[in-house]
Amino acid sequence: MSLVVARTIAQARALVAEARRQGRSIEFVPTMGALHEGHGSLMDLARRPQGFLVVSIFVNPIQFDRADDYERYPRTLEADVEFCRRRGVDLVFAPSIEEMYPQPQRAFVEVTGLTEHLCGRFRPGHFRGVATVVTKLFGIVQPDRAYFGEKDAQQLAVVRRMVRDLNMPVEIVACPTVREADGLAMSSRNGRLSPAERSAASAIYRALQAAAAQVRAGARDPAVVRRAGLALLQAEPLLRPEYFDIVDPEEIQPVLMIESEVLIACAAWAGTTRLIDSLRATPPLNA
Ligand code: PAJ
Repeated sequence: MSLVVARTIAQARALVAEARRQGRSIEFVPTMGALHEGHGSLMDLARRPQGFLVVSIFVNPIQFDRADDYERYPRTLEADVEFCRRRGVDLVFAPSIEEMYPQPQRAFVEVTGLTEHLCGRFRPGHFRGVATVVTKLFGIVQPDRAYFGEKDAQQLAVVRRMVRDLNMPVEIVACPTVREADGLAMSSRNGRLSPAERSAASAIYRALQAAAAQVRAGARDPAVVRRAGLALLQAEPLLRPEYFDIVDPEEIQPVLMIESEVLIACAAWAGTTRLIDSLRATPPLNA
């Protein structure tokens, strides 16, 4: 079957229902578009022989904490549809703002605790916007499985916890981070970097790797690990670190001592572009 683009909820629901009648499973990759190989890898993992692959493309206003970031977010629908076609997607759901928010949204989904630190601390309301739109999209697509990138580790943890706590009948599949040759995590925002900022941005991955190496070598004090990472970020004058923290990967709470697997997560500004990345690291058994 060739790719179909649905602009309305009714159209998307009808196509999904038809695929279900044919006995196909519903595989879902939610995105905000400006698609790159990171999104492509999610589609590759979501493509299944008896599956109906749905990709949503919707720049969700209620998860942006800054109007300028929302306005400047890249919108490349035509190229995105072609990208999806090449990737074997069955249905692109690309609703308008009016279709998703025909009246002021009054119902919200909030995941507490997991949203206090990292991005949640610096982007008020962001994860409420994410959890709410993902809930809406799940209600429209009703997928069997939904695919999320580990690059947005806090988002992945929040969505997993939301699905568990609210008994949503969907399986969340975590997908590894896809990186450029120098280690920079692929992102729709990378295109906004100047050449100098782009080259400075690779320090983010080097900093995470240095911190992860400390954990794997048996460092137990998160402050020590944090200093090792931050030093590499601070050596790059074009980067302004926002946070560099060592947290529990499920609860997203700072750890007092590194005794089991941790998430090392970082956000940094390059000019007016905010970049995030993270790595998981496990201490040695005999530490
Ligand atoms: P967006 O930033 O477009 O990302 C869509 C999905 O692609 C997310 O699950 C994200 O983690 C994943 N992704 C992005 N870059 C990646 C990379 N380099 N490697 C692997 N996966 C990557 O995340 C969102 O959109 C929105 O918040 C959304 C969940 C769609 C809700 O609006």
